[in-house]
Order: sequence, then structure tokens, then C-alpha cells
Amino acid sequence: MCLIIEDFLNEAIPDTFIKNLKMEINKRGFASDNNAGIHPDILQEIISSNNGHVTGYGSDVYTEGALKIFKEHFGDATETYFVFTGTAANVLGLSAITRSWNSVITASTAHLEGDECGAPEKFIGCKVLVVDTPDGKITTDLIEKHMHGIDFEHHSQPGVISITQSTEMGTVYSVSEIKEIAGFAHARGMLLHMDGARIANAAVSLNMPFKSFTTDAGVDVLSFGGTKNGMMFGESICFLKPGLSADFKYMRKQGMQLASKMRFISAQYLGYFRNDLWRSCASHSNAMAKKLADKLNQVPEVKITQKVQSNGVFLIMPADVAEEIKKHYFFYPWDEKRSEWRLMTSWDTQDEDIENFVTILKNELKSINH
Ligand SMILES: Cc1ncc(COP(=O)(O)O)c(C=O)c1O
Repeated sequence: MCLIIEDFLNEAIPDTFIKNLKMEINKRGFASDNNAGIHPDILQEIISSNNGHVTGYGSDVYTEGALKIFKEHFGDATETYFVFTGTAANVLGLSAITRSWNSVITASTAHLEGDECGAPEKFIGCKVLVVDTPDGKITTDLIEKHMHGIDFEHHSQPGVISITQSTEMGTVYSVSEIKEIAGFAHARGMLLHMDGARIANAAVSLNMPFKSFTTDAGVDVLSFGGTKNGMMFGESICFLKPGLSADFKYMRKQGMQLASKMRFISAQYLGYFRNDLWRSCASHSNAMAKKLADKLNQVPEVKITQKVQSNGVFLIMPADVAEEIKKHYFFYPWDEKRSEWRLMTSWDTQDEDIENFVTILKNELKSINH
């Protein structure tokens, strides 16, 4: 633990609190890629940009530089706006391309459906229509069930399809799958939104530049995430086609997501893209997920339930075993009824984490079986 924190704790705070906090600080886990810290290169970038005065609200050289990089990755027509959270990126991005009588069609597992506290319904004002999917991916066949009541004023009008890449279940859409959904949407006058909270993990998994499976595949609006892959905070809304972002600067401000000290989001992006740091972080977390899955696959009592294509591993194991392991390496249930659990790796997952996790799992299984 950092010495400054240790000194502070020893001087200022009661013993039990110190003990708990030390355990918390030293504890590692597979709960979420959000639980990992900030990549040191990004932290350094924040420190380097913490120099003198620059104009607030995005009129600064750091923001100018970062916006240029987004154009390089996604195409010249790309208009990018930084916000604080992924929920804000989804909600504001979708607000820009819908009217209140539209519906947004998405997977039942989508973050915007299940994990945004109804913010899309409240702030976009649209109906969210869900599609059940076994692996987090939606298909045009599945979407079709919502394509009725078109031009009928008693029904909400499907306006946008939203997909997540990589999905909440760690799976990844291929380019042809995305193109098919985009073609389906555009043929019906709808638009395609991509929640890219983990887009870097998808790019590594596909081994493709971002542009090939976004702009070039027909995605219209993208929520581009950085927080889960080494940034401190800061996500982006990328309008990939011309004409979609008119007046968006007012929407972002009204949506309370215009950062006054914008340079500290922008500087993080400079670090994120420098020397393809995003790629090395995501390559590492994907590789760690693969390694974890390979080891788990050798344990007969464990069943991996999803393809491991990015940095998530979904598995079924006995609930009492999972509860014991959680005391050492925390993680969350995915489907409690069938004792299915979600393990997320991050840019800082270590071999040792995987070894320890699997050893504890095997020991717990042994003690249960005896
Ligand atoms: C798929 C997905 N989209 C978006 C988000 C963004 O969430 P937040 O608002 O917590 O930054 C998350 C975070 O868990 C996510 O998993």
C-alpha cells in the first residue's frame, strides 16, 4: 500500500477501520473492469496536462488534439463529444437521434435496458423494446418481432437499434453481423447505435481497426468507452455520419455533461491513443480472460456458458463454492437461479490472480466433495 495512505491511516483513524480499508485496498477481483485503477501512462498524461491555465469547456489544445485523433480512427466526418459516464454517452447519444414517440430496440441484456436505472426512458423519453438473446447479441430475425405498427399513430415508432460491442456477455459481433443489422435499420429509416463501453476489447478480438466495424459497417452513433480499459473517467459520443449532431452541444450542456475542466478528460484520451495504449490494455485483458477460461475448462465441475471473445468469462459452478471464492476474489452473479457467475478481467489482471483463483476453486471443490 502507498506509504502516504499508510501514514495517514495510522495517525488519523481507528484500528478496525484501518484493517478493513487495508483489506479493501489489497483485495483484487474479477468483479468488473471498472474496479481496476488508472493506467500509469494515463495518470501521467493527466499530471502533464495539469500545467498553467487553459480555457475551460473544451476550448483547449488537449481537447483539440483528442478530437483530431477520433477523426483519424473513425473518419473525417466524425463529430465527437466527451462526457463523464457511459450511461450519459448512451442516453445523450440516443436523445440526439430520436423523438419521444420513437422506440429503441435493444437486447434484454443491454446495459441501457437493465443497468441505467431507467435513465433512457426518463431522459430520452422513448420506449425501450427488448429482444431476448442467448448470448447478448441481437439479430435481424429477433428484431423483426418489434417491426409492426409502422406509421400507425397508436404505436411507438422504432427509430434506433442499439447493440453493444463487445456485449455484456463478453461476446463480439462480427462485421457482417453488424452490417446486416445496419442494413436492416437503414432500409426502414432507422439508425444504428453502438454501445462501445468495451469497444477496445472488441477491436482486439476482431483484430481490426475501430473504423471497420463501426463507421464502415454502418453504425451511425457510437458510445466510445475508455474507463473500463485504463482511463480514470470519460466516455465519448461519436456521431459517425454527417448531420446527426446538429445542436448537440446544447443537448450535452442541458444534459449536465459538459465538463468545465475538459482538458483532464481530453488528456486521458491523448494517453489512451498514444502508442496504441488502448490496444495493449485490451489485448492483455482479453488474453487474461482466455487464460482463465482455459484453466476453468479443465475443471469438470465448471461449465463455461458463453464464448470467451473479449474480457468476460461466464460460468456455472456450485453456489457454495462461489461464495467461498468470493471471500478472496470478488465477483458478481449473473443468473443466480442457475448459479451462473460473471468474471471480468482488466488491463491489470495478473497471472497470479488467475492461478490463485483456480487453486482456491479446486480446493473448495475438493473440500465439498469429501
Ligand atoms: C455495456 C456497458 N455500457 C455502458 C456502461 C457505462 O456505465 P457507466 O455509466 O457506469 O459509466 C457500462 C458499465 O458498466 C457497460 O457495461
